[in-house]
Amino acid sequence: MKPIARSTLEPERGSASRSSSAWNNDHRISTTLREASPLRVADPRSGNDTGAFTPSENHLSLLLARGTVTTMKRAFFLIGIILAMNARATVPEIYHDGWIDFNKNGAKDIFEDSTQPVEKRVADLLAQMTLEEKIGQLHQNTRDTGAEKIYKDQIERGDLGSLLGSSAIIESPLQRNALQKMAVEGTRLGIPLIFGHDSIHGFRTTFPIPLAQACAWEPELFERTQRISARETAAGGNDWTFAPMVDLGRDPRWGRIAEGFGEDPYLGCLYAAANVRGFQGTNVAAPDRVIACMKHYVGYGAAEGGRDYNTTEISEYTLRNFYLPQFKAGLDAGAWTFMTAFNCLSGVPASANRHVLTEILRDEWKFNGFVVSDYQAVEQLIDHGVAADANESARLAITAGVDMEMVSSNYETLPTQLQEGKVTQATIDESVRRILRVKFAKGLFDRPYADETLYKDAYLKPDAVALAREAAAKVCVLLKNEKDALPISKSVKKIALIGPIADVPGEMLGCWASRGRPQDAVSLAAGIRAKLPATARLTVFSGCNITNNTAQISRAVSDAKAADVVILALGEPREWSGESKSRTKLGVPGRQLELFQAVAATGKPVIVVLFNGRPLTIPEISTNATAILEAWHPGVQGGNGVADILFGDASPGGRLTTSFPYDVGQVPIHYNHFNTGRPGIGEYKGNYVDAPITPLYPFGFGLSYTSFEYSKVQLSAPSMKSGQTMTAHVELKNTGLRAGTEVVQLYIRDVAASAGPRPVRELKGFQKVQLNPGESRDVTFAISNKELGYYDSAGHWLVEPGKFQVWITRDSASGKPVDFQLD
Ligand code: NOJ
Repeated sequence: MKPIARSTLEPERGSASRSSSAWNNDHRISTTLREASPLRVADPRSGNDTGAFTPSENHLSLLLARGTVTTMKRAFFLIGIILAMNARATVPEIYHDGWIDFNKNGAKDIFEDSTQPVEKRVADLLAQMTLEEKIGQLHQNTRDTGAEKIYKDQIERGDLGSLLGSSAIIESPLQRNALQKMAVEGTRLGIPLIFGHDSIHGFRTTFPIPLAQACAWEPELFERTQRISARETAAGGNDWTFAPMVDLGRDPRWGRIAEGFGEDPYLGCLYAAANVRGFQGTNVAAPDRVIACMKHYVGYGAAEGGRDYNTTEISEYTLRNFYLPQFKAGLDAGAWTFMTAFNCLSGVPASANRHVLTEILRDEWKFNGFVVSDYQAVEQLIDHGVAADANESARLAITAGVDMEMVSSNYETLPTQLQEGKVTQATIDESVRRILRVKFAKGLFDRPYADETLYKDAYLKPDAVALAREAAAKVCVLLKNEKDALPISKSVKKIALIGPIADVPGEMLGCWASRGRPQDAVSLAAGIRAKLPATARLTVFSGCNITNNTAQISRAVSDAKAADVVILALGEPREWSGESKSRTKLGVPGRQLELFQAVAATGKPVIVVLFNGRPLTIPEISTNATAILEAWHPGVQGGNGVADILFGDASPGGRLTTSFPYDVGQVPIHYNHFNTGRPGIGEYKGNYVDAPITPLYPFGFGLSYTSFEYSKVQLSAPSMKSGQTMTAHVELKNTGLRAGTEVVQLYIRDVAASAGPRPVRELKGFQKVQLNPGESRDVTFAISNKELGYYDSAGHWLVEPGKFQVWITRDSASGKPVDFQLD
């Protein structure tokens, strides 16, 4: 058996694959054509023939890239005109009026005909493919390593179905189009590549990290930010993004908690769906939309010790009720792709887990898009210790249901394994079919190239910047506000802005800033400066480094003493959250706590603004700061958005979607835990001897600049039958002096359940309500089987008669329940 490259990062090995494909050297007809006769086309912007031979600029692709299907027809029409008008022009013969002759046979095949149904097109193309061409579609390589020669050779050989880029390499669609042209014109069947990119919280316009955006309790806001991400990502020459990350996060040691929505599956489902809608829209084939990818399937966030990539042990019951629903919600919203997780899930690595990838995803949920592995995760089955070699890892992965292998190339072994009877043709064909289906759905066979002009003006457009500012303000969670220290009056005379994150624009961007650039970002200092009149005095001083021991605390103290109010910008560097950024300590690092203590000792009002990608343990800051605003990593407009909150131009409406522990020893910690058999506090009660069992700030917590009063919860009936609907409502009153936003939260508990315990509380609804001072509003929630059911370990949805409790309240730790009976 031929030795298999363990990684395409290793050039000499990665480039060795399948170079002997029978058709490989004999079918470069159109490449030769193109080389001999470069394109001569009209400049579509002027409508005139430029007369220039510019194959590298690829004006043809520009024409092909314009608009939706209707516009595409126009492009084909234009090409026809160009061909007719310009006798000298020699366009590769494959581009026809209204269709592309991908397989270069001079005829319009079913798969080349955009009027044919997708399934027919897939079947037609599949029937024309050699085994090697099929295996090529199952492989995705990366552009990030810069190993250009390797992936270009792979494209020319037809050995690639997709390319990914997540780092700085991709600047424009020009590169994409050049590569796409190699695939379309230079291979026998011309199957277009699908280009993926990690746009997690923005492309060039960086929005707040996902955990922060969840704290806005406004899925529609996230849908809008991802809609902009899609627009910019697509303008950059990409078809597909590897987001949303919907992994439930209960452990802030795990750095990727920043990329998810927090600890609640109900919110997680709403955000999963909103992300998919934001990326894909109603027509994923539109040139400004990208395909979404539900990741990481599944259980990735439950890593033991909070250590990234680590093993997870999740019971089927917990998996069904807490980890899977977000994935299903994304799928129901139309997500076309899934990505496997790196972790071993209850004894079977997620990338070889037939139970979740086939039995649940395909058989139960009927998903018909494709599954991509995470980065080299197929190859890593060897490191997991479940596969002896590349053959076995490939076999395990594809039979479990992994259709496309990301970066590693173990699927190269499949042809041999097919001959040996170890994998079936049907298994390979099914994976290819799924990948082609998504390529057709994205319109890649009708519009393989991206527009080459739009991208220059596509980034940081005014609407994107305005939305980034709105989002940065909306994600802020006010954790403390003694003596109404916030909002700060704009007539304040002297402000000392202190702290290592006070004036570092790049730190606003967050863990997965994609193409975001520090030079576009607004620091807190810049945001505050823009608010203040020229007469006000603002001093800005770091006081210490974010992580190391460098500090000048005495100078910071003098600044504080000279000011009327101190704003202290603390937190963790953005590189400390995200992938592979686990922590064992959750306090502010370096000498920041010392800085806080010294500044607080001046007796001046100290407003702490936290910039971080995970919940931090801040008991001392919580006790001694005058006010605390959790700003997360708020994105490119962070300084402006946070300043809007600090000075009262926006009011804080954010609420935590992740518990803030007192101490790292409490984690994993989450509000929706099961009761123990010995609940409560005291001897033999399952508490700590040295810390509380409750968090410092609970899920759902957040203050506003006013106060709200809740009436007792009223139910429309004391009991109801399964299938009926009842209502629960409260009267909410703004009892303070300012207008404010309250997030009214509905929690339910099923007191006794037959298939397993139910959490002590579960969020089942919320409403974001804005009230003026003195104003009241009736806030009503409907309660039906949807809010009352749960999954058993086999995935059946159960709604069981018995007693339920209902809270309508301000957070997961407050309020008094009322009971009702389900008959
Ligand atoms: C590895 C990460 O786990 C995943 O989330 C990401 O999409 C891929 N790399 C591609 O960059």
